Amino acid sequence: MPGETTTRTQVVVIGAGPAGLLLAHLLAADGVESVVVESRSEEYVAARIRAGILEQSTVDLLRGSGLGDRLEREGDQHHGIYLQWPQERHHVDFVSLTGRSVWVYGQTEVQKDLVAAAQARGQVVHYEVSDTALHDLESDRPSVTFTDASGAARRVEADVVVGCDGSFGPSRGAVPESLRQTWEKVYPYSWLGVLADVAPSTDELIYAWHPDGFAMHSMRSATVSRLYLQVPNDTPVDDWSDDRIWDALSTRLGHGQDGWTLTPGPITEKSVLPMRSFVQTPMRHGRLFLAGDAAHIVPPTGAKGLNLAVADVGLLSPALVALLRRGDEGPTAAYSDTALRRVWRCTHFSWWMTTMLHTSEDPFDAELQLSQLRWVTSSEAGTTGLAENYAGLPIGF
Ligand code: FAD
Ligand code: PHB
Repeated sequence: MPGETTTRTQVVVIGAGPAGLLLAHLLAADGVESVVVESRSEEYVAARIRAGILEQSTVDLLRGSGLGDRLEREGDQHHGIYLQWPQERHHVDFVSLTGRSVWVYGQTEVQKDLVAAAQARGQVVHYEVSDTALHDLESDRPSVTFTDASGAARRVEADVVVGCDGSFGPSRGAVPESLRQTWEKVYPYSWLGVLADVAPSTDELIYAWHPDGFAMHSMRSATVSRLYLQVPNDTPVDDWSDDRIWDALSTRLGHGQDGWTLTPGPITEKSVLPMRSFVQTPMRHGRLFLAGDAAHIVPPTGAKGLNLAVADVGLLSPALVALLRRGDEGPTAAYSDTALRRVWRCTHFSWWMTTMLHTSEDPFDAELQLSQLRWVTSSEAGTTGLAENYAGLPIGF
């Protein structure tokens, strides 16, 4: 293109979300240079309220790569979760069952740590780009073109392109249609999520089955609560006043334990999140690799989306280092199949948690759900299975 500026690097990463910035961080630690391109602004990406739970292997990876300081100080280690339905609340203790735990540390905080580390090492990140396009992926000189924030046309040539551009980015569509396979399940309900300036009314997360619909009590800190309600798809957020939200949360969460009450407080953020499961294979095409939401999406009930993105990158980074520093193609050749084993495990777990806890119109389904909840909370095999999946399997599983 006339007037285009061409630069060269080893890896172009598309997307500066957690997958993209963590990959750039891990590659830099092993002496591999990258350039990141992101369509949004740095502030926009950092402010998106999304995931809240980090599983054991995510925490281990962040700590092991020098990103664990603030997580250590400000994250909150949880030993398990509560599962409840009317008249019953059960604690599932991951630590006693599996020796693994989870941490409450929001995606916003992970993103801040990644941005600070990127700035400290002088990482090139082009924010607010448009027209991102991928080229020559089947050659050993692929490139990415885009228009930068000042309106200038740019091309970055590289050895490898990694699509970390989430569910709406161009990377997954760059795999030829004849070579890709996709699976999708859209659920017939959404989550209304709120953030509230009030101390959590629970020490650990509560997942509640209720005839009115699922509800969940999560948190971000000692003074900030994160709560969710099952609502029909396409529910306008304005249908839910703050009072209506607190009433529904008190009803659905309050039925599990006598004497327990939910403390309401000022709601600072409110949104409706649709839910789907999606997987695209393979996660590699020529010199293009996909990681995170670019390749797979899970409903949030199993708290797996962010953790899966981190697990992909935890596998991909050493594979790219082997390729680019030692000319060893083995680990990159294995990347897609290895990553997909965990992807399908988490896809199943997220679907299982979602369908066990969200109510439908069907009274038969309700009885099966309650039977499953009773079994999961009373049998050691059932509880251990949930704990193992929730606290997370080791990376590379
Ligand atoms: P993303 O975080 O989506 O990052 C992709 C980046 O690519 C974005 O910054 C995007 O702007 C950029 N991009 C897109 N297109 C282009 C382009 N053309 N050019 C350049 N850059 C581009 N998971 C949980 O575990 N629990 C939750 O509660 C939870 N809540 C969620 C709520 C919402 C609304 C959403 C969307 C997701 C939620 N998730 C949750 C999932 C979790 O946040 C994701 O799995 C996680 O963000 C995946 O990280 P990622 O880096 O792969 O993708
Ligand atoms: C959250 O805190 O946002 C959260 C926690 C657990 C989930 C989903 C979301 O399963």
